[in-house]
Parts: sequence; C-alpha cells; structure tokens
Amino acid sequence: MSLPSPLNARLVWLTGLSGAGKSTLAQALQQQLREAGRPSVLLDGDRLRQGLCADLDFSPQGRRENLRRAAELSRLLLEQGQLVIAAFISPLRSDRAMVRDIGGAPYFVEVFVRCPLAVCQARDVKGLYKKANSGQIAQFTGISAPYEAPDTPALMLDTEAASVQACSTALLDHVLQGGSR
Ligand code: ADX
Repeated sequence: MSLPSPLNARLVWLTGLSGAGKSTLAQALQQQLREAGRPSVLLDGDRLRQGLCADLDFSPQGRRENLRRAAELSRLLLEQGQLVIAAFISPLRSDRAMVRDIGGAPYFVEVFVRCPLAVCQARDVKGLYKKANSGQIAQFTGISAPYEAPDTPALMLDTEAASVQACSTALLDHVLQGGSR
C-alpha cells in the first residue's frame, strides 16, 4: 500500500540512551499534540517489549528484530495517515537506517535525545545501570553494549542542559512546523 501525503503522517523517532528522557519527551509531545487537536500514536520500546516483542532479547539480533517490528507497525500506521511517535534506544546507525527505509524516508524524523552516560547513570530511574554495572544485566547499552549517536539528526534535544519543558516545546515546534527531516 502506498503512503499518503506526508503532510500529517510522520514517524518521529526518538533515539538515545536508557534514562536519556525519550519516553518522557514522547509522552509530553503526544499530550501537547492532543491539546493542539493532532492525535498521534505512541510506540515505546519498554511497552512493546512487554508484549509484541516479549520474545526478544537485547542481543544485536534481538534489538534489530525489535526495531524491525516497530518500523513495520509504524509503516501500517503511516499508511493510514497517522502521526507516529516512537521511543526506542535503537543504538545502531544501521538499524535506524533500516527503520527509515521501512517507514519511508520522507516521513522519518530522527530525534536524538542526548544525555551523557554519566548523567543517565546518576539518574538511574529504573535502577538498571546499577544492575548492569554489577553484571546482573548483560549487553546493557552504554555499559556493555554500544550506542552510536546519530551524525545528522533532524533535531537534537539535550536533556542534560535543558528542562523537559524546553525540550518538549522544541520538539513540538519541530513537528508542527513539519521541520526538516
Ligand atoms: S532497543 O535497543 O531494542 O531499541 P528498547 O528501546 O526496545 O531497546 O528497550 C530499552 C529498554 O529496555 C530500556 O529502557 C530498559 O528499560 C530495558 N532494558 C532491559 N535490558 C536492557 C539492555 N540490556 N540494554 C538496554 N535496555 C535494556
């Protein structure tokens, strides 16, 4: 099925370390879009891994399949004109390129949720860095598995330097203006 005009349909893809603020900003964006009369669909890695992707691990292959399913699901939604917000660590450039190819390059908006590893570790909202550092969790992004930052994201949000409010406003502005992809 061909994709509709990219006027409404968009795949806003948030990538970054665990604890960088992807889910928080994705939820804030969805809420602000709702208030602006623009419904959206939110796909979050943590949530997909509870069900649709519960059979997958965090090996490179497991992550790639996780992201392939998220991208294919996004594609189905884009075909129906939906605005999709997706929050996944998606640590590898090659996997994000796959997502862009599946979703359709004109629709794909890569947003880098930037936060230094040390700050994510200090936040440690879910206590996972502590476990990863003590060896209880293997292949943890930033500790024992790689994270490749985007070279040329459409938008970069620095959650170390800027507040949630400032970042989510910048994100909303970018999406509403149909900013550069
Ligand atoms: S991705 O690498 O495949 O894109 P995804 O965004 O779906 O990851 O899931 C990341 C979430 O899974 C993290 O926020 C964290 O809560 C949890 N998690 C559990 N184990 C790991 C791990 N080894 N590496 C990264 N995140 C993990």
